[in-house]
Amino acid sequence: MTAPEVTPRSYQPQDTLYLWTLINPASPVLTGAVSLSALVPNCATFTYAADWWQFALSENLPLMAGQVFSAGEKDSAPGALDDARPDRWGERIIRHIDRPARLSILEMLLFAGDDRFGALGVSTSAEHYLPRRIGPYPQLRDLAALVRAVEDVQSQAPVTPEIQRLVQPGVTLGGARPKALLHTDSGACIVKFSELDETVDTPLIEHATMTLAALAGIRVAATGVLAIPSRHAHHKSRHALTIQRFDRLQTDSLNLRLHCISAKTALAAAGLTESYGALATVLLRQAHPERQKNQREELFRRMVFNILMDNTDDHERNHCLRLGFDGYYELAPAFDVVPTLQNMGYQALVVGQHGAQSTLDNALTELSEFGLTRPRALELIQSVARVVEQWSRHFQQLGVCAADREQLAASIDRDDLRLQRQVYC
Ligand SMILES: Nc1ncnc2c1ncn2[C@@H]1O[C@H](COP(=O)(O)OP(=O)(O)O)[C@@H](O)[C@H]1O
Ligand SMILES: [Mg+2]
Repeated sequence: MTAPEVTPRSYQPQDTLYLWTLINPASPVLTGAVSLSALVPNCATFTYAADWWQFALSENLPLMAGQVFSAGEKDSAPGALDDARPDRWGERIIRHIDRPARLSILEMLLFAGDDRFGALGVSTSAEHYLPRRIGPYPQLRDLAALVRAVEDVQSQAPVTPEIQRLVQPGVTLGGARPKALLHTDSGACIVKFSELDETVDTPLIEHATMTLAALAGIRVAATGVLAIPSRHAHHKSRHALTIQRFDRLQTDSLNLRLHCISAKTALAAAGLTESYGALATVLLRQAHPERQKNQREELFRRMVFNILMDNTDDHERNHCLRLGFDGYYELAPAFDVVPTLQNMGYQALVVGQHGAQSTLDNALTELSEFGLTRPRALELIQSVARVVEQWSRHFQQLGVCAADREQLAASIDRDDLRLQRQVYC
Protein backbone atom coordinates (compact mmCIF):
# COMPACT_ATOMS: atom_id res chain seq x y z
CA MET A 1 0.00 0.00 0.00
CA THR A 2 1.38 3.41 -0.80
CA ALA A 3 1.01 5.98 1.92
CA PRO A 4 -1.27 8.93 1.18
CA GLU A 5 0.84 11.88 0.24
CA VAL A 6 0.80 15.25 1.87
CA THR A 7 -0.31 18.01 -0.46
CA PRO A 8 -1.09 21.65 0.30
CA ARG A 9 -4.80 20.82 -0.20
CA SER A 10 -4.94 17.69 1.93
CA TYR A 11 -2.76 19.01 4.75
CA GLN A 12 -4.56 19.90 7.98
CA PRO A 13 -2.39 22.09 10.21
CA GLN A 14 -0.77 20.03 12.97
CA ASP A 15 0.96 21.37 16.05
CA THR A 16 3.51 18.55 16.00
CA LEU A 17 5.40 17.21 13.00
CA TYR A 18 8.11 14.54 12.88
CA LEU A 19 11.72 14.82 11.91
CA TRP A 20 13.26 11.91 10.03
CA THR A 21 16.80 11.29 8.90
CA LEU A 22 17.30 10.12 5.33
CA ILE A 23 20.95 9.13 5.14
CA ASN A 24 19.60 6.26 3.09
CA PRO A 25 16.34 7.65 1.71
CA ALA A 26 15.15 4.08 1.10
CA SER A 27 14.97 3.59 4.87
CA PRO A 28 14.12 6.79 6.72
CA VAL A 29 14.72 6.76 10.48
CA LEU A 30 12.51 8.62 12.94
CA THR A 31 14.65 11.19 14.72
CA GLY A 32 12.33 13.34 16.80
CA ALA A 33 9.30 15.60 17.08
CA VAL A 34 9.02 19.25 16.11
CA SER A 35 6.32 21.32 17.78
CA LEU A 36 5.16 24.89 18.01
CA SER A 37 6.25 26.54 21.22
CA ALA A 38 3.44 27.48 23.59
CA LEU A 39 5.47 30.42 24.86
CA VAL A 40 7.15 32.13 21.93
CA PRO A 41 5.33 33.04 18.70
CA ASN A 42 6.21 30.95 15.67
CA CYS A 43 9.06 29.18 17.41
CA ALA A 44 9.78 25.50 16.73
CA THR A 45 10.83 23.19 19.55
CA PHE A 46 12.51 19.82 19.12
CA THR A 47 12.67 16.57 21.11
CA TYR A 48 14.65 13.47 20.10
CA ALA A 49 12.80 10.21 19.64
CA ALA A 50 13.59 7.78 22.49
CA ASP A 51 15.41 5.35 20.20
CA TRP A 52 17.40 7.82 18.09
CA TRP A 53 21.08 7.34 18.89
CA GLN A 54 22.97 7.74 15.62
CA PHE A 55 24.39 11.25 16.02
CA ALA A 56 23.59 14.62 17.55
CA LEU A 57 22.16 16.86 14.83
CA SER A 58 24.32 19.75 16.05
CA GLU A 59 26.41 20.51 19.12
CA ASN A 60 23.54 22.40 20.75
CA LEU A 61 21.17 19.44 20.26
CA PRO A 62 22.98 16.83 22.37
CA LEU A 63 21.46 13.35 22.51
CA MET A 64 19.23 13.68 25.56
CA ALA A 65 15.94 11.81 25.45
CA GLY A 66 12.97 13.85 26.59
CA GLN A 67 14.79 17.20 26.53
CA VAL A 68 12.83 19.94 24.77
CA PHE A 69 15.16 22.13 22.72
CA SER A 70 14.21 25.62 21.59
CA ALA A 71 16.07 28.66 20.30
CA GLY A 72 13.57 30.69 22.31
CA GLU A 73 13.11 33.38 19.68
CA LYS A 74 10.29 34.34 17.37
CA ASP A 75 10.56 32.65 13.94
CA SER A 76 13.30 30.27 15.00
CA ALA A 77 14.09 26.57 14.78
CA PRO A 78 16.72 25.11 17.13
CA GLY A 79 20.18 23.96 16.00
CA ALA A 80 20.43 21.99 12.78
CA LEU A 81 16.66 22.29 12.19
CA ASP A 82 17.32 25.85 11.11
CA ASP A 83 19.12 24.46 8.06
CA ALA A 84 16.16 22.23 7.17
CA ARG A 85 13.95 25.28 6.56
CA PRO A 86 13.52 27.01 3.25
CA ASP A 87 15.11 30.43 2.94
CA ARG A 88 13.75 33.50 1.16
CA TRP A 89 13.23 31.95 -2.29
CA GLY A 90 11.67 28.76 -0.91
CA GLU A 91 9.36 30.62 1.47
CA ARG A 92 8.20 32.69 -1.42
CA ILE A 93 7.21 29.60 -3.39
CA ILE A 94 5.43 28.13 -0.36
CA ARG A 95 3.52 31.36 0.28
CA HIS A 96 2.58 32.07 -3.33
CA ILE A 97 2.29 28.65 -4.92
CA ASP A 98 1.72 26.00 -2.25
CA ARG A 99 -0.46 28.16 -0.02
CA PRO A 100 -1.08 25.62 2.76
CA ALA A 101 -3.88 26.32 5.26
CA ARG A 102 -1.43 27.77 7.80
CA LEU A 103 1.96 29.43 7.32
CA SER A 104 3.78 28.88 10.59
CA ILE A 105 7.36 27.71 10.85
CA LEU A 106 6.06 24.12 10.96
CA GLU A 107 4.52 24.43 7.50
CA MET A 108 7.72 25.99 6.22
CA LEU A 109 9.59 22.96 7.53
CA LEU A 110 7.09 20.49 6.06
CA PHE A 111 6.59 22.12 2.67
CA ALA A 112 10.32 22.44 2.04
CA GLY A 113 9.63 18.94 0.80
CA ASP A 114 11.35 15.69 0.22
CA ASP A 115 14.68 16.66 -1.30
CA ARG A 116 15.83 19.47 0.94
CA PHE A 117 19.36 20.47 1.88
CA GLY A 118 21.18 17.86 3.98
CA ALA A 119 19.76 14.58 5.20
CA LEU A 120 16.76 15.68 7.27
CA GLY A 121 13.14 15.26 6.27
CA VAL A 122 9.85 16.33 7.82
CA SER A 123 6.75 14.15 7.98
CA THR A 124 3.21 14.50 9.29
CA SER A 125 3.49 11.03 10.84
CA ALA A 126 5.74 9.39 13.43
CA GLU A 127 4.93 5.94 12.03
CA HIS A 128 5.73 6.50 8.35
CA TYR A 129 7.87 9.04 6.60
CA LEU A 130 5.07 11.03 4.96
CA PRO A 131 6.69 14.10 3.48
CA ARG A 132 5.37 16.75 1.19
CA ARG A 133 6.21 14.97 -2.07
CA ILE A 134 7.40 17.06 -4.92
CA GLY A 135 6.73 16.32 -8.56
CA PRO A 136 9.37 15.13 -11.00
CA TYR A 137 12.14 17.59 -11.75
CA PRO A 138 12.04 19.60 -14.92
CA GLN A 139 14.33 18.31 -17.67
CA LEU A 140 16.90 20.12 -19.73
CA ARG A 141 14.36 20.53 -22.54
CA ASP A 142 12.16 22.52 -20.10
CA LEU A 143 14.85 25.15 -19.57
CA ALA A 144 13.25 27.96 -21.58
CA ALA A 145 9.89 27.35 -19.91
CA LEU A 146 11.57 27.14 -16.51
CA VAL A 147 13.24 30.50 -17.03
CA ARG A 148 9.87 32.05 -17.90
CA ALA A 149 8.23 30.42 -14.88
CA VAL A 150 10.93 31.73 -12.56
CA GLU A 151 10.52 35.23 -14.03
CA ASP A 152 6.77 34.98 -13.56
CA VAL A 153 7.25 34.13 -9.90
CA GLN A 154 9.66 37.03 -9.52
CA SER A 155 7.17 39.46 -11.04
CA GLN A 156 4.27 37.87 -9.13
CA ALA A 157 2.31 36.85 -12.21
CA PRO A 158 -0.74 34.62 -11.62
CA VAL A 159 0.21 31.05 -10.82
CA THR A 160 -0.47 28.52 -13.57
CA PRO A 161 -0.17 24.73 -13.32
CA GLU A 162 2.88 25.03 -15.60
CA ILE A 163 4.61 27.39 -13.15
CA GLN A 164 3.68 25.05 -10.35
CA ARG A 165 5.12 22.00 -12.08
CA LEU A 166 8.40 23.65 -12.99
CA VAL A 167 9.16 25.76 -9.95
CA GLN A 168 7.85 23.74 -7.04
CA PRO A 169 10.64 21.19 -6.65
CA GLY A 170 13.00 24.12 -6.09
CA VAL A 171 11.48 25.10 -2.73
CA THR A 172 13.79 22.61 -1.14
CA LEU A 173 16.84 24.82 -1.29
CA GLY A 174 17.85 27.83 0.72
CA GLY A 175 19.23 31.17 -0.38
CA ALA A 176 17.61 34.27 -1.79
CA ARG A 177 18.31 34.01 -5.51
CA PRO A 178 15.82 32.17 -7.73
CA LYS A 179 16.73 28.55 -8.17
CA ALA A 180 15.30 25.25 -9.25
CA LEU A 181 16.23 21.61 -9.35
CA LEU A 182 16.81 20.11 -12.76
CA HIS A 183 17.21 16.59 -14.00
CA THR A 184 20.16 16.18 -16.36
CA ASP A 185 21.97 13.19 -17.83
CA SER A 186 24.43 13.26 -14.97
CA GLY A 187 21.73 13.32 -12.29
CA ALA A 188 19.93 16.06 -10.41
CA CYS A 189 21.56 19.44 -10.04
CA ILE A 190 20.75 22.88 -8.70
CA VAL A 191 20.15 25.64 -11.24
CA LYS A 192 20.57 29.27 -10.27
CA PHE A 193 19.11 32.11 -12.32
CA SER A 194 19.68 35.86 -12.47
CA GLU A 195 17.52 38.32 -10.61
CA LEU A 196 15.33 40.42 -12.90
CA ASP A 197 17.27 43.65 -12.37
CA GLU A 198 20.83 42.39 -12.77
CA THR A 199 23.03 44.26 -15.21
CA VAL A 200 25.67 41.53 -15.54
CA ASP A 201 25.41 37.83 -16.37
CA THR A 202 25.79 36.72 -12.75
CA PRO A 203 25.40 32.96 -13.32
CA LEU A 204 28.27 32.93 -15.83
CA ILE A 205 30.33 35.13 -13.52
CA GLU A 206 29.65 32.78 -10.62
CA HIS A 207 30.83 29.84 -12.73
CA ALA A 208 33.98 31.77 -13.67
CA THR A 209 34.62 32.67 -10.02
CA MET A 210 34.09 29.15 -8.74
CA THR A 211 36.44 27.68 -11.33
CA LEU A 212 39.00 30.39 -10.53
CA ALA A 213 38.71 29.42 -6.85
CA ALA A 214 39.46 25.83 -7.84
CA LEU A 215 42.65 27.05 -9.56
CA ALA A 216 43.53 28.78 -6.29
CA GLY A 217 43.50 25.42 -4.54
CA ILE A 218 39.99 25.70 -3.06
CA ARG A 219 37.65 22.72 -3.09
CA VAL A 220 34.48 23.92 -4.86
CA ALA A 221 31.15 22.43 -5.82
CA ALA A 222 31.29 21.50 -9.52
CA THR A 223 29.54 24.09 -11.67
CA GLY A 224 28.55 24.55 -15.29
CA VAL A 225 26.45 26.94 -17.34
CA LEU A 226 23.46 26.58 -19.63
CA ALA A 227 22.76 29.20 -22.28
CA ILE A 228 19.32 30.72 -21.93
CA PRO A 229 17.46 31.28 -25.16
CA SER A 230 16.99 35.03 -25.52
CA ARG A 231 13.54 36.51 -26.04
CA HIS A 232 14.90 39.42 -28.01
CA ALA A 233 17.65 39.18 -30.57
CA HIS A 234 19.40 42.37 -29.41
CA HIS A 235 19.69 41.25 -25.79
CA LYS A 236 23.09 40.13 -24.64
CA SER A 237 23.41 36.44 -23.90
CA ARG A 238 22.38 35.10 -20.54
CA HIS A 239 23.07 31.92 -18.63
CA ALA A 240 21.87 29.77 -15.80
CA LEU A 241 24.37 28.20 -13.41
CA THR A 242 24.23 24.47 -12.69
CA ILE A 243 25.73 23.20 -9.44
CA GLN A 244 26.31 19.64 -8.43
CA ARG A 245 24.92 18.91 -4.96
CA PHE A 246 27.50 18.16 -2.25
CA ASP A 247 24.88 16.81 0.14
CA ARG A 248 24.09 13.85 -2.11
CA LEU A 249 26.25 10.81 -2.80
CA GLN A 250 25.41 8.56 -5.69
CA THR A 251 27.11 5.21 -6.04
CA ASP A 252 26.24 2.40 -8.42
CA SER A 253 23.87 0.78 -6.00
CA LEU A 254 23.07 3.47 -3.47
CA ASN A 255 21.74 6.96 -3.31
CA LEU A 256 22.81 8.53 -0.04
CA ARG A 257 22.35 11.87 1.66
CA LEU A 258 24.89 13.62 3.88
CA HIS A 259 23.95 15.55 6.98
CA CYS A 260 25.02 19.17 6.62
CA ILE A 261 24.87 22.22 8.84
CA SER A 262 25.55 25.83 7.96
CA ALA A 263 28.38 27.71 9.64
CA LYS A 264 25.62 29.77 11.25
CA THR A 265 24.36 26.68 13.07
CA ALA A 266 27.83 25.34 13.87
CA LEU A 267 29.01 28.66 15.34
CA ALA A 268 25.85 29.29 17.33
CA ALA A 269 25.97 25.71 18.64
CA ALA A 270 29.57 26.19 19.76
CA GLY A 271 28.70 29.53 21.36
CA LEU A 272 31.25 31.30 19.17
CA THR A 273 31.11 34.61 17.35
CA GLU A 274 30.65 34.81 13.62
CA SER A 275 34.21 34.89 12.39
CA TYR A 276 36.49 32.91 10.09
CA GLY A 277 38.78 32.23 13.04
CA ALA A 278 35.93 30.80 15.11
CA LEU A 279 34.94 28.56 12.20
CA ALA A 280 38.56 27.34 12.05
CA THR A 281 38.23 26.52 15.76
CA VAL A 282 35.07 24.50 15.07
CA LEU A 283 37.07 22.55 12.47
CA LEU A 284 39.79 21.94 15.03
CA ARG A 285 37.19 20.39 17.32
CA GLN A 286 35.05 18.55 14.82
CA ALA A 287 37.21 17.56 11.85
CA HIS A 288 39.17 14.31 11.66
CA PRO A 289 42.50 14.74 13.51
CA GLU A 290 44.43 13.93 10.35
CA ARG A 291 42.51 16.45 8.26
CA GLN A 292 42.20 19.41 10.65
CA LYS A 293 45.36 21.10 9.46
CA ASN A 294 44.33 20.86 5.85
CA GLN A 295 40.77 21.99 6.57
CA ARG A 296 41.86 25.07 8.46
CA GLU A 297 44.29 26.01 5.68
CA GLU A 298 41.46 25.55 3.19
CA LEU A 299 39.30 27.96 5.18
CA PHE A 300 42.13 30.50 5.26
CA ARG A 301 42.45 30.22 1.46
CA ARG A 302 38.73 30.81 1.06
CA MET A 303 38.87 33.89 3.27
CA VAL A 304 41.77 35.34 1.26
CA PHE A 305 40.06 34.54 -2.04
CA ASN A 306 36.80 36.18 -0.91
CA ILE A 307 38.68 39.30 0.15
CA LEU A 308 40.61 39.61 -3.11
CA MET A 309 37.61 38.86 -5.35
CA ASP A 310 35.27 41.29 -3.57
CA ASN A 311 33.00 38.45 -2.45
CA THR A 312 31.73 40.29 0.60
CA ASP A 313 28.56 38.19 0.79
CA ASP A 314 30.54 35.43 2.52
CA HIS A 315 28.08 35.20 5.40
CA GLU A 316 27.55 32.31 7.80
CA ARG A 317 25.01 30.53 5.61
CA ASN A 318 27.39 30.55 2.68
CA HIS A 319 29.75 28.15 4.47
CA CYS A 320 28.73 24.63 5.40
CA LEU A 321 30.00 21.69 7.36
CA ARG A 322 29.26 18.17 6.19
CA LEU A 323 29.16 15.12 8.44
CA GLY A 324 31.17 12.24 7.00
CA PHE A 325 30.32 8.59 7.51
CA ASP A 326 33.31 8.41 9.89
CA GLY A 327 31.49 10.76 12.29
CA TYR A 328 33.74 13.78 11.65
CA TYR A 329 32.73 17.06 10.08
CA GLU A 330 34.51 18.65 7.16
CA LEU A 331 34.10 21.89 5.23
CA ALA A 332 31.63 21.27 2.45
CA PRO A 333 32.88 22.36 -0.99
CA ALA A 334 32.69 26.12 -1.48
CA PHE A 335 29.51 27.55 -3.08
CA ASP A 336 27.93 30.96 -3.72
CA VAL A 337 31.35 32.47 -4.38
CA VAL A 338 30.86 35.48 -6.64
CA PRO A 339 32.04 39.12 -6.62
CA THR A 340 29.35 41.26 -5.01
CA LEU A 341 30.36 44.34 -7.03
CA GLN A 342 29.70 46.60 -4.07
CA ASN A 343 33.22 47.65 -3.10
CA MET A 344 32.19 47.48 0.52
CA GLY A 345 35.63 46.99 2.00
CA TYR A 346 34.42 44.62 4.67
CA GLN A 347 33.45 40.96 4.68
CA ALA A 348 30.27 39.48 6.16
CA LEU A 349 32.29 37.45 8.69
CA VAL A 350 34.95 38.81 10.99
CA VAL A 351 38.40 38.35 9.42
CA GLY A 352 40.77 39.32 12.23
CA GLN A 353 41.65 41.92 14.80
CA HIS A 354 40.39 44.70 12.54
CA GLY A 355 36.94 43.16 12.45
CA ALA A 356 35.50 42.39 9.05
CA GLN A 357 37.84 44.74 7.16
CA SER A 358 38.73 43.25 3.75
CA THR A 359 42.50 43.40 4.02
CA LEU A 360 45.24 40.82 3.88
CA ASP A 361 46.91 42.54 6.83
CA ASN A 362 43.75 41.84 8.80
CA ALA A 363 43.77 38.22 7.58
CA LEU A 364 47.25 37.86 9.08
CA THR A 365 46.26 38.95 12.60
CA GLU A 366 44.71 35.73 13.97
CA LEU A 367 46.92 33.03 12.50
CA SER A 368 46.90 30.89 15.63
CA GLU A 369 43.16 30.36 15.16
CA PHE A 370 43.96 28.75 11.82
CA GLY A 371 46.96 26.87 13.21
CA LEU A 372 49.19 28.67 10.70
CA THR A 373 52.72 29.97 10.95
CA ARG A 374 53.32 33.34 9.34
CA PRO A 375 55.54 31.96 6.56
CA ARG A 376 52.88 29.36 5.67
CA ALA A 377 50.13 31.99 5.71
CA LEU A 378 52.19 34.20 3.39
CA GLU A 379 52.70 31.22 1.10
CA LEU A 380 48.94 30.56 0.97
CA ILE A 381 48.18 34.23 0.30
CA GLN A 382 50.74 34.28 -2.47
CA SER A 383 49.30 31.24 -4.20
CA VAL A 384 45.79 32.72 -4.07
CA ALA A 385 46.90 36.23 -5.11
CA ARG A 386 48.76 34.91 -8.15
CA VAL A 387 45.64 33.14 -9.38
CA VAL A 388 43.41 36.16 -8.73
CA GLU A 389 45.87 38.32 -10.69
CA GLN A 390 44.80 36.27 -13.76
CA TRP A 391 41.06 36.59 -13.15
CA SER A 392 40.28 38.69 -16.21
CA ARG A 393 41.89 36.27 -18.63
CA HIS A 394 40.14 33.32 -17.01
CA PHE A 395 36.78 35.10 -17.15
CA GLN A 396 37.33 35.99 -20.81
CA GLN A 397 38.18 32.37 -21.64
CA LEU A 398 34.91 31.28 -20.09
CA GLY A 399 32.98 33.76 -22.21
CA VAL A 400 32.32 36.62 -19.78
CA CYS A 401 31.75 39.59 -22.10
CA ALA A 402 33.94 42.72 -22.16
CA ALA A 403 31.22 44.94 -20.68
CA ASP A 404 30.80 42.62 -17.70
CA ARG A 405 34.55 42.30 -17.22
CA GLU A 406 34.78 46.06 -17.15
CA GLN A 407 32.21 46.22 -14.36
CA LEU A 408 34.04 43.47 -12.50
CA ALA A 409 37.37 45.24 -12.89
CA ALA A 410 35.92 48.31 -11.20
CA SER A 411 35.58 46.13 -8.10
CA ILE A 412 38.30 43.49 -8.27
CA ASP A 413 40.97 45.77 -9.71
CA ARG A 414 40.18 48.89 -7.72
CA ASP A 415 43.32 50.18 -6.00
CA ASP A 416 42.19 48.93 -2.59
CA LEU A 417 42.26 45.32 -3.70
CA ARG A 418 44.71 45.31 -6.60
CA LEU A 419 47.54 46.93 -4.66
CA GLN A 420 47.09 44.46 -1.82
CA ARG A 421 47.31 41.43 -4.05
CA GLN A 422 50.18 42.76 -6.13
CA VAL A 423 52.39 42.86 -3.05
CA TYR A 424 52.29 39.07 -3.28
CA CYS A 425 52.55 38.55 -7.05
N1 LIG B 1 26.22 22.42 -4.27
C1 LIG B 1 25.34 22.43 -3.27
N2 LIG B 1 24.95 21.28 -2.69
C2 LIG B 1 24.06 21.29 -1.67
N3 LIG B 1 23.48 22.41 -1.17
C3 LIG B 1 23.82 23.57 -1.72
C4 LIG B 1 24.76 23.66 -2.78
N4 LIG B 1 24.91 24.96 -3.12
C5 LIG B 1 24.08 25.64 -2.30
N5 LIG B 1 23.43 24.82 -1.46
C6 LIG B 1 22.45 25.19 -0.42
O1 LIG B 1 21.52 26.07 -0.98
C7 LIG B 1 21.58 27.33 -0.34
C8 LIG B 1 21.44 28.43 -1.36
O2 LIG B 1 22.48 28.36 -2.32
P1 LIG B 1 23.33 29.65 -2.66
O3 LIG B 1 24.24 29.28 -3.77
O4 LIG B 1 23.96 30.18 -1.42
O5 LIG B 1 22.20 30.62 -3.20
P2 LIG B 1 21.92 32.18 -2.98
O6 LIG B 1 22.78 32.89 -3.98
O7 LIG B 1 20.47 32.32 -3.23
O8 LIG B 1 22.32 32.51 -1.56
C9 LIG B 1 22.89 27.36 0.39
O9 LIG B 1 22.84 28.18 1.53
C10 LIG B 1 23.11 25.91 0.75
O10 LIG B 1 22.40 25.60 1.93
MG1 LIG C 1 23.88 31.98 -0.45
